[in-house]
Amino acid sequence: MKYHIITYGCQMNKSDSERIASVLEKIGCQATNKISKADLIVINMCSVRQSAVDRVYGLINKPKSKTQKIILTGCILPPDKRKMKNKADLIFNIKDLPKLPLMLKPAKLTNLETRSPNNLETWSPNYKSPNYLSLSSSPTSTFSAYVPIMTGCNNFCTYCVVPRTRGREFSRPVEEIINEIKDLIGKGYKEIILLGQNVNSYKGKIKNKKLKNLKTEKYIDFADLLKLIDNFQGKFWLTFITSHPKDLSDKLIKVMASGKKIMPYLHLPIQSGDNEILKKMNRGYTVEDYKNLIHKIRHHIPFVNISTDIIVGFPGETKKQFKNTAKLMKWVKFDMAYIARYSPRFGTIAANFEDNINYEEKKEREKLLTEILKKTALKNNEKYLGKTVEILIGKNEKNFSWGKTKNLKNIKINYAYSYGPLTSSKNNSVHSCHKLPNPQLKNKKNYFFNPGKFVKVKIIKSTPWRLEGFTRI
Ligand code: SAH
Ligand code: SF4
Ligand code: F3S
Repeated sequence: MKYHIITYGCQMNKSDSERIASVLEKIGCQATNKISKADLIVINMCSVRQSAVDRVYGLINKPKSKTQKIILTGCILPPDKRKMKNKADLIFNIKDLPKLPLMLKPAKLTNLETRSPNNLETWSPNYKSPNYLSLSSSPTSTFSAYVPIMTGCNNFCTYCVVPRTRGREFSRPVEEIINEIKDLIGKGYKEIILLGQNVNSYKGKIKNKKLKNLKTEKYIDFADLLKLIDNFQGKFWLTFITSHPKDLSDKLIKVMASGKKIMPYLHLPIQSGDNEILKKMNRGYTVEDYKNLIHKIRHHIPFVNISTDIIVGFPGETKKQFKNTAKLMKWVKFDMAYIARYSPRFGTIAANFEDNINYEEKKEREKLLTEILKKTALKNNEKYLGKTVEILIGKNEKNFSWGKTKNLKNIKINYAYSYGPLTSSKNNSVHSCHKLPNPQLKNKKNYFFNPGKFVKVKIIKSTPWRLEGFTRI
């Protein structure tokens, strides 16, 4: 039996899909990357904006072969669940993932041999556990792994579905996270990405008091967890998403600043640069709070890469309020920003406000912010020209590789040429160089660095979205 998983949404969903894959594989299914060849098509949904939901409607309404079955899971809102019910063969709550094999048989979705609940223990020792995150995962990458440390959210920003689709915050116990990470490092993983909707409010139960000499405490916070992992043996990089500005503590900044493996990268969603809108969004901080935070972070963590999320066209957002966001963006000089047009969501508080900014205006505002981002990102990237940095190789293509720096800058490495002396030109970001065929490649059949390898690269070009460099082979 073959399965194919289609994943929408954030890294949390991507990570969940790796756990779904692991469960399906344990009961004997095999992955296929062709939808047409799949017996089971699993769609892991995101409902954060209507556009993501519409794509799923498009998929499930497409003709498919009679033998193919559709399974829906992930973040689904109740009205969509009702409407999708007769198009899907099974809809299950991701938290019930440990019981998925039990659901497949009655739903007539599998011809695999019947597994009685008694021998479920053999493939899923945790199938009775309410904590689906304790199931093992089948990472798609061989060197970079997502490790969810928590799920859910208690913040109830007025526009957001996440507390409704994922429920309240749940933090995984410390030992469980530690064991998973140690296992990954032992298998050669080089990048560990801790996941949570709001990692800063992590509060993990600790059973082993010997950990970190914790004598009395039963729980540890996120900064302590990070420090603990940072002290693990081996060469790897460690990062996390997402941080909420209202919960990012001085303690965490200190841990990041003194960390050996912690990547100098922070995704810190601002959402708006106007205090009135921030209040209407229920974000719990002001523009001034955010600026102070940026100040502290930049002071303590050199070369920190800061990215953000912004919503344009929130109900009632005036031109002046939008300009405040543009002003803040220019002040912060983000390296990256994910700019979203406001989309009213069922069941949220903001759904009661009038969605009065029309589509064209939202698009225009998005465009203006993108232009600001392009400029600040380019300016930030120009600082790397001529520098030699360590990078982690991601994937290879003909004549070049993709990788990332420790502060999560994308980088393209060109192997086909060797470069002459660098001379900086003032007006553009490209350092002029002589592109010459690389003589060293002539006698090398396989000159690519393998994904997951750390190499040193000299940066010779910068664009807003990536750096380019070369390395001597
Ligand atoms: N936990 C993260 C965000 C998760 S949702 C945080 O607190 O920031 C990811 C992003 O989607 C949000 O940061 C927001 O910018 C965007 N988003 C959420 N709800 C939205 C909506 N109704 N319309 C448009 N964008 C939205
Ligand atoms: Fe949504 Fe706000 Fe929670 Fe982020 S913090 S997941 S935006 S409710
Ligand atoms: Fe989407 Fe759910 Fe993530 S709504 S953004 S997949 S938490």
